[in-house]
Parts: sequence; structure tokens; C-alpha cells
Amino acid sequence: MIPTPRCLVALAILVPMASSCTEHTNSCPQAQGLIGEGVARFSPDDVACESIPASMALTQPRLVEGGIPDDWPTQATFTTDGPTRRATISIEDGTSLYGTGEIAGPILRNGFVTETWGEQPYRESPPPGLNPQEYDDASPRLFQSHPWVLAVGADGPSFGVLADTTHRVRIDLTDGIAFSAQAPFPVIVVDGPSPQDVLIKLGELTGTIELPPIWALGYQQARWSYVPDERVREIADEFRARSIPCDVLWVDIDYMDEFRIFTFDEEKFPDPVGLNDYLHDAGFKSVWILDPGVKVEPGFFVYDEGLDGDHFIRRPSGEVFMGGSWPGDSVWPDYTNPETRAWWQSYIPDFLDNGVDGIWIDFNEPSIVFPLGIPFPEDLLHVGGGDLTPDTHARYHNGYGLLMSQATHEGMKLARPDHRPFLLSRSNYVGGQRYAAMWTGDNSATWDHLYWSVTMTLTMGLSGQPFAGPDIGGFFRAPSDSLYAHWIGVGAFFPFSRTHTIQLSPPQEPWSFGPEVEAIARAAIERRYRMLPYIYTLFRESSLNGLPVWRPVFFADPADPSLRAEDHAFLIGANVLVEPILTESDPHAFQTPSGIWREFTIVGEDPSQTPELPVLKIRGGAIVPLGRVVQSTTEPLLEPLTLVVSLNAQGRAEGTLYEDAGVGYGYQAGDYLLTTYSAQRVDNTVEVRIASQEGDRARPERSIDIVVVTDSGTFDGRGLETSTIVVSLE
Ligand code: GLC
Repeated sequence: MIPTPRCLVALAILVPMASSCTEHTNSCPQAQGLIGEGVARFSPDDVACESIPASMALTQPRLVEGGIPDDWPTQATFTTDGPTRRATISIEDGTSLYGTGEIAGPILRNGFVTETWGEQPYRESPPPGLNPQEYDDASPRLFQSHPWVLAVGADGPSFGVLADTTHRVRIDLTDGIAFSAQAPFPVIVVDGPSPQDVLIKLGELTGTIELPPIWALGYQQARWSYVPDERVREIADEFRARSIPCDVLWVDIDYMDEFRIFTFDEEKFPDPVGLNDYLHDAGFKSVWILDPGVKVEPGFFVYDEGLDGDHFIRRPSGEVFMGGSWPGDSVWPDYTNPETRAWWQSYIPDFLDNGVDGIWIDFNEPSIVFPLGIPFPEDLLHVGGGDLTPDTHARYHNGYGLLMSQATHEGMKLARPDHRPFLLSRSNYVGGQRYAAMWTGDNSATWDHLYWSVTMTLTMGLSGQPFAGPDIGGFFRAPSDSLYAHWIGVGAFFPFSRTHTIQLSPPQEPWSFGPEVEAIARAAIERRYRMLPYIYTLFRESSLNGLPVWRPVFFADPADPSLRAEDHAFLIGANVLVEPILTESDPHAFQTPSGIWREFTIVGEDPSQTPELPVLKIRGGAIVPLGRVVQSTTEPLLEPLTLVVSLNAQGRAEGTLYEDAGVGYGYQAGDYLLTTYSAQRVDNTVEVRIASQEGDRARPERSIDIVVVTDSGTFDGRGLETSTIVVSLE
């Protein structure tokens, strides 16, 4: 590498021992230089590179492959002001900024300031009408931390910037991009011809989601709490009796024995195995919650064993740190220590042996539960291990959720090597998508939150976390009939689709709002199940390339400035445009991308009768695979398979379908089928055929329903999948 002039200056003046971060080419993990194609790392040159903490975002250390050319399009500049370190990146006029992780408000982030410091929101003096724990678009930080900005230039060329630190970061987008923190940090700049390209590179650097089990993509129902166990059975029965599809029921904290983690209340949940058997027999999976706070109680096995193994976070004085969590006085595992992660994992096999299918981890920002609003002290000590050096909580706070997610996810895999784990985490950090899905925490049953639930899901996707969704219907407060109907209407399409609500709130099951809303909810959830083959295909794509499942409308044409702020509508993949109603009054004027977008329906709904359901449009040139309505993914989804075809101006269309066993890892050994279908107009017919296929999975003998959506109506056809199917347009 030819050192940049700046590096030489630093070498000569500041760091005579040649330990400047701008000098090392291939030995120091945080050195400045090119670290991949189109990826540059800028590091401050007045500190020894070795003293900059290892990255927690990257999947592996990225060593420098060459110097950053002087004409590299996006340069980062570092300044120091007392203890404050700042990195600035200037942007050209017309650049739109996105990302910054979990934050309420519009997707377009120009002009906003966000902070990364995961916490349970709490405002001593909340805005009028809100309780101290409710967040809104004025809350500067929420549960997750993603110091990442995606910048889309006026004509589409894009770049992304990651402040590669778990320290608290202020992301100021009021004038270009400025990150500031109380410790030196490098900045990784990812250059790309398009926003999609930048996100693919982010996925290469920080990892992608693992393909989830298909049941985790079904509709899910939660509340705090379905208790006792009989109530969980009743909810399961009710879904089946009412024929409302549902795959997963969630079990919140009240199953525990006085909130001791890894225990079950003997009266309320005496037989978790029996409960899970019951659910499984009815086609449900169950997800059970765990919190990191361990009850301080000699005799409680997790506490005793944790103390014996020295697994809890300590104060600088050496005492174990104690604070209030659900069970009262509690202590917190130090997941920076690999031995602590292994210890945590040792409880997972027994826990799962109760028939538990998925795990939900909460309050892992970490936040104190009692009293709320007390921050975790920044001077607590973490022992670290491996790449993670011993350091204070100020450094590790934002990584705590990721490390707990890693420990839990890996524990699930060790316990059940043949199962794809499903884990949901409230807190996480860049890269945490490798381990856990996310939900947008404790939102509220308001129309603003309905809108933010869409924008936050999009923003999470633009921050590298595609597996996201809100508490449908809102956590705090109770939704009106109309709000729930609209929320479940769009909510059925979230990558993670779950209704959840707070303790003691009115019922929030799809049937709780009367027969009219129940019918809307059923139609909405049936749409989800019909669309599941397409959604699953997108999840598989995302697991390979990091592209989000939900995409902003501007992805359809990044050079069109009129689309940059559109965030009521969104794309599912590249082929389906969804236009939901997210406002109670003041209808939104949707910006539609150029090209052909044709409206279509998927469960025979009459849009004039169900205005609560979003309008769906299919891109001209696309084929979208649909399944049938099932009550859960334990039933065969693709019998029959439907292909919705929308021809482009040249009379052609194409689309893919990914299928596999839905669970397990057979797909990694080739047990999958990826089919590309093509359609072509020939005179007054459309011919649909298999264009190519990949994978060893045997193709079932099946016929396919074809629905050709045209400007003058829809035309149906049916035929054997393996032969050319001809649909008449007359
Ligand atoms: C937190 C979670 C919420 C959960 C509750 C009780 O508030 O965000 O989803 O229901 O704790 O566990």
C-alpha cells in the first residue's frame, strides 16, 4: 500500500512508533484503507490503531487491501473537540439520507438527529397526553443501535456510512453526515451505483439473516400475558374455530415462577410440555420470553451458578452490579465473556425441551425495569474475551443486545442442530440480524404509530435488518375498531407479523373488535398466507444478499426524486407495491413509480367493500407466486400454486419461487427448488413456462393456476406445471 499523505504526517509527527491507524496495512484490524471492493475504512490518525476497539458489526476483521485513492468519492474527516470525537462526511445537493436504525418518523432522515443508546424509552416530562414510556418521533433513541446512514445521490448513485463503534453515537444529519462519540472510532464507507448495491455490500460486511423457519413468517398472536396456560389453549382453539390463520402463539413473562428466568410457575403453567404438545397438535408453534435480569436469590440455580462462574457484570468497586428487573433485585450476565455466553447457552436445551419453538429476549438494551428511567451506569465493567477487550459499559452497552442474541441463537442451534432457530430481540446492533429478528418495541395504539410502524420497518430494512415488524394494533392504549382494522390490513404484510398488547389492556385478538373487523382481519391474514411463497422467496434472497424484504418505493427508480419521501406506500420485494391507508383523515397522495403497476386482488376481496385493506399492485414484467389459504404452515401451502402474471410493454414477465422443507437445514445440502417462470404474449394468448430451475428437490406433480392481470381485466388459466400453459386473453 502507498500510505496517504495524511498517514505519513501522522507517522512523522504523532505516532513515531508506526502504530498509526493510517499506516498499518494488514496487521491492525482497524487500520485505514480499502477493505473490500468499493469499501473504505477511514480511521482517526492521532490514535494508535491497536487502541481502537475491534468491530462488533463486521462478521470478521477486515484487513486493509490497499490505500484509499485521493479521488475516492466519499471522504470522512475526523476532528476532536475535548473528549468528543467527530467524523463528518459531506454530501452533494439532492442527496437523500436514510437508515440510522430504529427511530420513529419519516424514512427520509435529512435534517434529523438520532442517538444510538439502546434503552427503554422514558421521559420525565412526556409530551401532553403521553405516558413517560411512550415514544414518538421526538424520541432521539429507542431500543436498538444502528450508527449507519444510507445516502442516495440525486441521480441514484449511493453510499453508506457506518460509525464502527458500540459507544453512544450522535448521528447528526442536519448538514451532511456527522457522527460524534466520546471515544475514537473508524468510519466504514460503502460505495455503490445504487442503494440496493450498497445494502448488498453492507450484508457482505455485517452478515445477513439466516433463512428463518417458514412458520416464523406466518401470522402470530401475543399479549402480555395469556395466562394461565388454559388461556393459551383457548386462544389457539378460537383461531381454529374462527378459521383465522395463525402459526405462532406467544407466552409472555407471567409463565415464570415469580419472574425467575428458565422456570415455570407451578400453578399457572404446571405443564409446559403438555401445553406445547396441545399447540403443536393444533398446528401452532410457541415462542416464550426470557429477560437478562437474574433474580438475586441464594438457592435460585441461575443466580447461584452465575455467581459461582463469575458471570455477572460488576461495578468498578468489584461488587456485582444489582438493579431492579421483573423479579425485583437482579443481576445481569456479562455476555462479552465467551464463558458467560457458553454458560447462558447451557440453560437453553432444557428450556427448549419443554417443547418451546422460539425464544423472545427483552429488556436487553439493557434497561432497568424498576424504577424505569434509571440508566445503566456507564462505569460498570465488562470482562470481555476473544476480540473483545475488557472495558466499561459505556463501550459495551449498545452491543449487549447483540451479544445476548448471539448467545441465545447459538445456544438454540447447539441444542437443536437440525432446527432453524427463531429468535426475537428487542435490542440489537448492526450485524445482529445474523441472530435475531426485531420488533419496534412498546409502541402505542395511535394513527401516528400505525404510520411509524411502516416507516420503522422500512428504515430497519435500510439499516441491514430486514426481519422486522411492530406490535400490530399498538402496545400501549387500545386501538379503535377502525385503527385495528387498518393496522391488521397492512400488518399482515410485515416481514414479522404479530399482534401484541400490554398487560390488562382490552382483548386485541382479531375477533375482539366485532364481526366486521374480524372479517377484515381474516381477509388480511389470508392475504398473508397466499403471499407467503413470495415472501419466503424474498426471505431466502435476503438471507443470501442482505436486501430488505420490505423496500421503499424509491427502490423502483432511485433516480426519480419524487419517490424519495414516499413512505406510506412500500414495495414487497421488487414486484408488489402496497398502498395502505395509514391516516385517519387527510388521505395520503401516493407517489407511484413510473412503468406499469397493475392493481390485483388475492383473496377475492372486493376493494370497494374492504377499504381498510391496502391496495396491491403488481409490476408489469413480474410473475408473483401465491399459495393457498391455510390455517398454518403445517399444511401444504402450494397445493395449488398460483402464478399472478403482469406483462411488461414487450409482452413478457418473469418471476421466481423458492421452496424447501420450510424447516431444518436440508436446503443447505441441496434440498430446495428454485424455479424461474417466464411468460410471453403470443397473439391473444399468454404462454407461461418454467424457464430454469435450481436445486435437487423433486418437483411435485402439480397443476398451476395462472392469473394474468392486464389493463382490461384478469384472465385465468390452469395447466400442468411442467408443460407450457396457454392462457387465452379473450
Ligand atoms: C416489555 C416488552 C413487551 C412485553 C413486556 C412484558 O415491555 O417490550 O413486549 O410484553 O415487557 O414482558
